[in-house]
Amino acid sequence: MFNRRAVFRWSALALGNAFALAVAIPGAKYLLDPLGKKGSGGAFRSMTRLSQLKVGEPQAFAVIAKRQDAWVRYPPEPVGSVWLIRQAEGASPAVLALSAECPHLSCPVNLAPDRQTFLCPCHQASFRFDGQTLNTVSPRAMDTLEVRLSDESDPEVAVKFERFQPQAREKKSLV
Ligand code: FES
Repeated sequence: MFNRRAVFRWSALALGNAFALAVAIPGAKYLLDPLGKKGSGGAFRSMTRLSQLKVGEPQAFAVIAKRQDAWVRYPPEPVGSVWLIRQAEGASPAVLALSAECPHLSCPVNLAPDRQTFLCPCHQASFRFDGQTLNTVSPRAMDTLEVRLSDESDPEVAVKFERFQPQAREKKSLV
């Protein structure tokens, strides 16, 4: 037989546990996904117009996305970047998009000082402008991203931004 004090104690315990779960679940979710990648992956994002890209010259573009956690909607902010390389007339795709995240350990890949190749400053992984590896530091080529061009006379270049698992030999999406 429950007395009033026991009922009160059990109610308080249940309420306390419910509150702890309400706080812990979003907190754990945030810790597991620190960038709050809601909205940062999987969607096509407009980067530029085709006329803004020069054939064979890589240009870096920041990927801007909104994110939100359980309580806060943050203003749009950079969540990554991509390299766009316009290909020669008639090539398919017309624009090559490469994730700027190094497949080795996810550092941002830059242009090498001679601007003829890509170089990752963290452990010196080196890549050609088509993304293929030039040394053995990275387990795979730079990750290509899907590109979509609009039908306009100066097409809008949109890229499907995704993240991929570092250190894997095969490209595997984290979205
Ligand atoms: S993270 Fe790029 S070489 Fe290691």
